[in-house]
Amino acid sequence: MIVTTAQLFKHAYGKYAVGAYNINNAEQAMGLFKGAMDSKAPFIIQISKGARSYTDKRMLEAIIRAADEIFPDAIFAVHLDHGDEQTCYDCIDSGFFSSVMIDASHDPFEENVAITKRVVDRAHAKGISVEAELGMLGGVEEDIVVEDGHATLTNPKEAQEFIKQTGCDSLACAIGTSHGAFKFKGKQSLHFDVLEKIKALVPGFPLVMHGSSSVPQDEVARINAAGGTIAGSMGVNVDEYLPAAKLGVTKINIDTDGRLVWTRVHREFFRDKPSEFDFRPPGKIFIVEYAKFIASRNVLLGSAGQL
Ligand code: G3H
Ligand code: 13P
Ligand code: ZN
Repeated sequence: MIVTTAQLFKHAYGKYAVGAYNINNAEQAMGLFKGAMDSKAPFIIQISKGARSYTDKRMLEAIIRAADEIFPDAIFAVHLDHGDEQTCYDCIDSGFFSSVMIDASHDPFEENVAITKRVVDRAHAKGISVEAELGMLGGVEEDIVVEDGHATLTNPKEAQEFIKQTGCDSLACAIGTSHGAFKFKGKQSLHFDVLEKIKALVPGFPLVMHGSSSVPQDEVARINAAGGTIAGSMGVNVDEYLPAAKLGVTKINIDTDGRLVWTRVHREFFRDKPSEFDFRPPGKIFIVEYAKFIASRNVLLGSAGQL
């Protein structure tokens, strides 16, 4: 059943985080729903602009609606990841999305407020939740690249003001993570000090952590042993998920780790069976492996067993 992120956050706040997983195709959808059901966890399906145009936005909607029928006990939100204003309106008007993210974090504060407020007004008129972003993560999100030196942590006082002025339902904060597989060069840790300050100023308000993949080193080693060349990768320490949740992080975004599972399964499969050319056998292995991965993440986020 599709619910809003606001509904999921109400139940989770301060206790656990809801996993927000990006999907692009049927195999990811099957693995995600299966893993969520195996771990009895609510979840958020994230759809990026790139995912909407990978095949056709109607294709993903049909896949998710079918998964909803195949797994009737699933409780999830359908959320636009890193939307611009026009894409937010398209999703709000689609009658399918229950939540959108407007990401105007690269614009100056006043402009970010103005754009976010317009999206909030249109979304709330239809009962749809809105996530906004303040501060700048490093790495690549959609077609925007933020160099390491330009990433800025969220300013807690600005966050309080931003939430007041926009009426958004949740806020993505920059607390030291970045998108992709290369998050930290030195110390691997979140800025809990920033989170504590934000929580103190906006108690009860759901915060979101982007760039939360853990980039498992055993996964990377297996990819490299099967022909990959991923060097110097580092992700978020999974032991920091729950402490972050206790400080108000109610949504934790994970995409890269799922891509690593896909890459490992397919590289190993075709290395071991070089004469194979049917994509279904590795596809089936991926669904099982991705389901196991999702269930394991839900345990770490504390969302397992919450259904
Ligand atoms: O933050 C970005 C997400 O990982 C989505 O990635 O835009 O390549 O689909 P994508
Ligand atoms: P990762 O690249 O760490 O998986 O982050 C995904 C994300 O934040 C999607 O919005
Ligand atoms: Zn993100």
